[in-house]
Parts: sequence; structure tokens; C-alpha cells
Amino acid sequence: MRDWKQRLGRSYARFATNIAVRYPRLWPLVRPLVRKQFDVLAPEWDSMRSPDAFSPVEAALATVDGPVEAALDVGTGTGSAALLIADRFPDAQVVGVDIAPSMVERARQKTRDRGNLSFEHGDASALPFGDESFDLVTPRT
Ligand SMILES: C[S@@+](CC[C@H](N)C(=O)[O-])C[C@H]1O[C@@H](n2cnc3c(N)ncnc32)[C@H](O)[C@@H]1O
Repeated sequence: MRDWKQRLGRSYARFATNIAVRYPRLWPLVRPLVRKQFDVLAPEWDSMRSPDAFSPVEAALATVDGPVEAALDVGTGTGSAALLIADRFPDAQVVGVDIAPSMVERARQKTRDRGNLSFEHGDASALPFGDESFDLVTPRT
């Protein structure tokens, strides 16, 4: 993807995030655009990520020593962090949620043979899980 498109995309994502954080009631207005943006990016998302993009996640996971039976990766994208969690805790059920259906589809394709991983389309502002459903939650990065 051309540089200017990437820069524009990043600026828009920052803008939408700032709006949502400062004025949560406006999130329904920016949500379709955020979804569309990441749907478009899904096919090339993995090639856009730098090789060390997930080092902080790996470092954080290395510090978790309690039992983890269920984990949630919010804004999972193509599921890379969810995959790391599933590797670190092979007995845990790991769920990745993303607002962009194309991201969810790619995450499913990437992890098809992994029984302890599943991906759902959903919005972090209205997750379909009860309180205390997860021992570990990672935020979108
Ligand atoms: C910067 S990308 C990061 C993706 C992945 N975590 C990674 O590191 O490769 C942000 C992701 O969060 C998703 N997202 C944005 N807002 C969301 C929301 N409210 N609920 C769920 N997913 C959301 C986007 O669709 C996108 O896939």
C-alpha cells in the first residue's frame, strides 16, 4: 500500500479513537468508518505490521503466571495476539473479537487448525460476554 494511504489511514484511526474516547456518544457515528477502514486493510494487514510489533504482548504474557482458562483479545485484527496467547496458554480458550468482518475472516483462516481459538465479530463497546468471563484480556493495539 502506498505510504500516503497508510499515513492517511493512521491519522484517521487516531482521529476516530480520540473522538470515541472524548465523546463516547459519537462512537456510533465513527464506527462504520472505522469498520470500513479495517475491512479494507485486512488483506494486507499482516504485511503492514513490523516484525517486532508483538514483542510487548509477548513480554507482557511472559509475566502472567496465574492460571488462565479463558482469554479475550479485543480488536484482534487478524488474530496475531490471540495466537500468542493460545501458544502461551495451550489449555485456555482464547476468543478474539473485532469490529471488522474481514479481519475476523482472516483471523479464522490463519488459525483454522487451532481448537482453542475462536473469533467473533463484535464491538468493544458492547461485548456479548458476562462479567468475569475471562482471566486475561488484551486491549486493541
Ligand atoms: C490497529 S488494529 C490492531 C489489530 C491487532 N490487534 C494487531 O495488533 O495486529 C485495531 C483493530 O481494532 C479493531 N477495532 C477498532 N475499534 C474496535 C471496537 N470498538 N471493537 C472491536 N474492534 C475494534 C479494528 O477493526 C482493527 O482490526
